[in-house]
Amino acid sequence: MAQQRNSIHGEWSSRWAFILAATGSAVGLGNIWKFPYITGANGGGAFVIVYLLCIVAIGIPIMIAEIMIGRRGRRNPIHTLQLLAEEAGAHPRWRYLGGMGVLAGFLILSYYSVIGGWVLAYVFRTASGVFDEATAEGVETVFQSFVGQPMAQMVWHTIFMIMTMVVVSRGVQSGLEKAARFLMPGLFVLLFILVGYSMTTDSFGDGVRYLFQPDFAALTAKGVLIAMGHAFFTLSLGMGAIMIYGSYLSHNESIVRTTLMIVAADTAVSLLAGLAIFPIVFANNLEPGAGPGLIFQTLPLAFGHMPGGTFFGVLFFIMVVFAAWTSSISLIEPAITWMVERHGLTRPAACIISGVLTWVLGIGTVLSFNDWSDVRLFGKTFFDLLDFLTASIMLPLGGLCISIFAAWVMLRETTLQELAIGNGTVYRSWRFLVRYITPLAVIVVFVSGILNAIGVVTL
Ligand code: TRP
Repeated sequence: MAQQRNSIHGEWSSRWAFILAATGSAVGLGNIWKFPYITGANGGGAFVIVYLLCIVAIGIPIMIAEIMIGRRGRRNPIHTLQLLAEEAGAHPRWRYLGGMGVLAGFLILSYYSVIGGWVLAYVFRTASGVFDEATAEGVETVFQSFVGQPMAQMVWHTIFMIMTMVVVSRGVQSGLEKAARFLMPGLFVLLFILVGYSMTTDSFGDGVRYLFQPDFAALTAKGVLIAMGHAFFTLSLGMGAIMIYGSYLSHNESIVRTTLMIVAADTAVSLLAGLAIFPIVFANNLEPGAGPGLIFQTLPLAFGHMPGGTFFGVLFFIMVVFAAWTSSISLIEPAITWMVERHGLTRPAACIISGVLTWVLGIGTVLSFNDWSDVRLFGKTFFDLLDFLTASIMLPLGGLCISIFAAWVMLRETTLQELAIGNGTVYRSWRFLVRYITPLAVIVVFVSGILNAIGVVTL
């Protein structure tokens, strides 16, 4: 059997550094911005249940598989998959799976950076005090006029992209371990403060019911596909980000235990964000299905009405910026390591090239909220289409192939050695899940969801 190897990029300084960095990758705009608005757009409770099921039955096993593959290969995702395929006597063409991941990360980052820019802008909007005693209409007007102007968004998008590339160019180990250490606890505290505020509104019960009381009539096959896609998105799975982070993990650490911690933290942040937001939505007669602007049209209302709101509001948006930042670097890290290893570029050069390309693509997302808002393909704007293509198609497809790779291509002995948990119940359940359940679930949801989304069947 081949020997375990080491990464040419170095290792995390400790187990906690890995857990924090991977949690930093997982917890991001997906939890605080995206989860509430897609929950609102898909009817609430039933959607949340499907999402939680996908986290447990698909997300956990695939995260274990991705970290394991990354740590085994110790290269960028493209070369890792090629190497491990060859090691197992399979075709090196498996590298294309890594290639799809690199592409997905690049596409996601292009719009992630635009929304990251919105959050940056809201740090300053909130600080200016415009939300003091604001009404629901006032807050909505501020948001609409902001997204209505391409120029302002372009400036913030540029700043966010530069921030991302500066950190990535320095190497993930140096700055990011530190940032995540104070960020994650801070984010939790602020979310608790916001949930505390929401509890004081009369509509806390409505919010809780909306999130946790399933109304399966409100759920479509497309909604199930979105929930599954979001399980991948929120855990940073299906494109090699967690794989590359796993490649910096020491051999001595337990992959299963670290995975459970990362998933628990990520899920907790999403549910807390939902508990903070939906009571405010109902207390102010807002529309839960308001779309990508949801948190920007609800949270400022809470900040405008609670004591010390400006202070907490600024702090909150700063935390969200940090959360987005520790995620955005992981979106581009696979591409960077590939450019460094394959083309011999320096890290800074790779960052400049990929930064400029991603930035240019991001312009499409900026314009889809204003000048191009009427331009539709399959009934979707540029941003919606990019989001659907990546989160609902590329990530589940990537995850499907990753589980097939881990369960059917890699030798059983290799995975046994790498996971190092013995051949007991935990290992056997994992293997059963990635062998049968995950691929089957992804295929079923995928096919029905896509048919439903393009209108072939109505489910
Ligand atoms: N998980 C992050 C979030 O929820 C986004 C993200 C970072 C991501 N890296 C990823 C999504 C890799 C998919 C794949 O905001």
